[in-house]
Amino acid sequence: MVTDAFKERVKRNVADHFDRSYRIYQAFEVKHGLFSALASHMASTIRLTPRSSVLDVGCGNGVSAMALHREYACSVLGVDLSPKMVSAGRGACGTLGIRLMVGDGEDLVRVTGGEIFDYVLYNASIFIFPDVSHTIDEAFQCLRPGGKIAFSFYPELVGANGQDLLALAFERLGLALPRYRVITDYAAACRALQERCGNLRRHCWQRPLDLELLEDFFTIPAQSASLFPGRSYEERCRCVKVLFRNLSDMAGTGHILWRMAEGSREPGEAQGQR
Ligand SMILES: C[S@@+](CC[C@H](N)C(=O)[O-])C[C@H]1O[C@@H](n2cnc3c(N)ncnc32)[C@H](O)[C@@H]1O
Repeated sequence: MVTDAFKERVKRNVADHFDRSYRIYQAFEVKHGLFSALASHMASTIRLTPRSSVLDVGCGNGVSAMALHREYACSVLGVDLSPKMVSAGRGACGTLGIRLMVGDGEDLVRVTGGEIFDYVLYNASIFIFPDVSHTIDEAFQCLRPGGKIAFSFYPELVGANGQDLLALAFERLGLALPRYRVITDYAAACRALQERCGNLRRHCWQRPLDLELLEDFFTIPAQSASLFPGRSYEERCRCVKVLFRNLSDMAGTGHILWRMAEGSREPGEAQGQR
């Protein structure tokens, strides 16, 4: 049972951490192109129809929205808790007709004013939602019959023999794996989607174990806070460096696994049903 106080605390922290992240986030994306590649991969995996309408939940600075617009000519409305991420993305997105709004992904019906979409997508954002059933309920109400909800998840670092390399890196650092790396785990997000849609398809995307990408990814202030909560940003950066240096003997052997899932709304189902 998630309390309102816990939800509020998580969301305040999320908005605050991402408000501090927008510059480094942008620099990371320019260097690695990770979030746009992840959005493209999710779109092709779920066979997203060109020129469809998309609600992008946890849109950040619009990186995934721009990829969907560029590659599929989608019209996109992005919603994000962090005012600074949204304002950083508005310039480039605005000229493409992509709308970005500050708002809570657990309050989608009100935030979107009742607009209905072909897809509701969460690119690398759903694991930060404290009440996943609630956001999926809201997403479902914003979806046309026949539409789809899909998400991509937090990265897993997997060794050649299947071992959890992030756990190994923490072990080598002499620390326990942090409890709140994700607020909602993959199984819970899948369960919520399955319960709401009545169907579920799981997918994943494997990338090489790129330690430089991982170090840069976890140096984004919000990501570093998920690994080393309660420490200063400078200290978190130092820890992240050592953490991934501890895996240098694994480079070229393991992989990064991005889990995904999709659920679809029955084509014959009228709005307001379920
Ligand atoms: C890792 S970023 C991904 C951003 C974007 N989807 C991309 O692909 O670049 C996660 C984003 O989710 C947003 N977020 C987390 N919880 C949210 C909520 N309850 N409502 C709206 N946005 C949320 C954060 O503010 C952050 O910008």
